[in-house]
Amino acid sequence: MSLDIDFIRSQFPAFSEPSLEGQAFFENAGGSYTCQPVIDRLMRFYAQRKVQPYAPYKASQLGGAEMDEARQRLAAMMGVEPDELSFGPSTSQNVYVLAQAFRKFIGPGEAIIVTNQDHEANTGPWRRLADEGIEIREWKIDPQTGHLDPEDLERLLDDKVRLVCFPHCSNVVGEINPVTAITAMAHAAGAFVCVDGVSYAPHGLPNLGELGPDIYLFSAYKTYGPHQGLMVVRKALAGLLPNQAHYFNGDVGYKRFTPAGPDHAQVAACAGMADYIDLLCDHHGGPKGDDAERAGFVHDLMRAYEIKLLQPLLDAVKARKDVRLIGPDDAEMRAPTVTLYLNRPAEPVAAALADMGIMAGGGDFYAVRALTALGIDPDNGVLRLSFTHYTTESEVNKLIAALDKVL
Ligand SMILES: Cc1ncc(COP(=O)(O)O)c(C=O)c1O
Repeated sequence: MSLDIDFIRSQFPAFSEPSLEGQAFFENAGGSYTCQPVIDRLMRFYAQRKVQPYAPYKASQLGGAEMDEARQRLAAMMGVEPDELSFGPSTSQNVYVLAQAFRKFIGPGEAIIVTNQDHEANTGPWRRLADEGIEIREWKIDPQTGHLDPEDLERLLDDKVRLVCFPHCSNVVGEINPVTAITAMAHAAGAFVCVDGVSYAPHGLPNLGELGPDIYLFSAYKTYGPHQGLMVVRKALAGLLPNQAHYFNGDVGYKRFTPAGPDHAQVAACAGMADYIDLLCDHHGGPKGDDAERAGFVHDLMRAYEIKLLQPLLDAVKARKDVRLIGPDDAEMRAPTVTLYLNRPAEPVAAALADMGIMAGGGDFYAVRALTALGIDPDNGVLRLSFTHYTTESEVNKLIAALDKVL
């Protein structure tokens, strides 16, 4: 079964919005369009349910039930328990809170491994724990390719390491890291694992029960949803880390690492992400029953479609002598987040693309450490061309033709 692109696009109001007409969107790694079910739920919440949730009157009960529904359905799709999934303002803030928990959980003589492939969100807050005497070890990328080699990690692991942090997929390198294998290595050494899934989840929700990390984070606003950060902390670890919420909320798993009061409407609207995945599953004749299996079906559908569209773009850019493609040139190995180094500032090139009906971005994308390690001047930055399953083949062709003109 291949993906029905017309059906997909009918689920996104942006594609029938007159002010966006004729613009091909290639900055999805920055933030995706929002799907209709999410918008519907957000509007309904504000119009009908925007009162303090979980009180005994109807509007409040409906609001609270919808917030629970979002957590329960998305958790089931990712193969974890509802109590293990929580919502916070953003992934950056969620990691920050987790780092405060680890600040008290581990101490001098113990170590954390971080990478220089990550967006700053999943590396900076961990590195600051050096203030407590915690040793920070850096798992370094290959300076040419941006690849993270698991053999290098093996050399960094010993019985002092308590936590290994890395991205499922970097927002500039694009290569998909083997989360299951890396997690197994870290666990074998007695360390916990924290994965930044922000650049991966928009291309198909992961099954965390199968992948195995102790912490997994991603951002709903890049995954067709509202501006929320989703964070899974598996129970075995959550119970060990000190509570970061009000003292009387510490026993509630999904409150334990979210000290901020939740944005009720946006949490409820996240149920629309589950509606969207269910809609895609049913429309494409996917399995009935198990939620993780259904989400897995949609994941595979999206991946197959994206890989097909991505390879011609990679082939076109790797054939050029005037750009450096960051990350693998094999679409199977990466997300459709394609970064090019131009040896000049990237932002004016993104502006030239905008004039040709291509929305793309230029800059460092908060992956300053990765760019620096790749020998790239962050002030020049990189041109990033990122798409998802709602992009069409003709949009990719339009992009390739536009690149020929601006590069
Ligand atoms: C890979 C990656 N991780 C983390 C983040 C931070 O996410 P948030 O904006 O939700 O804090 C981003 C945002 O661009 C990202 O691309």
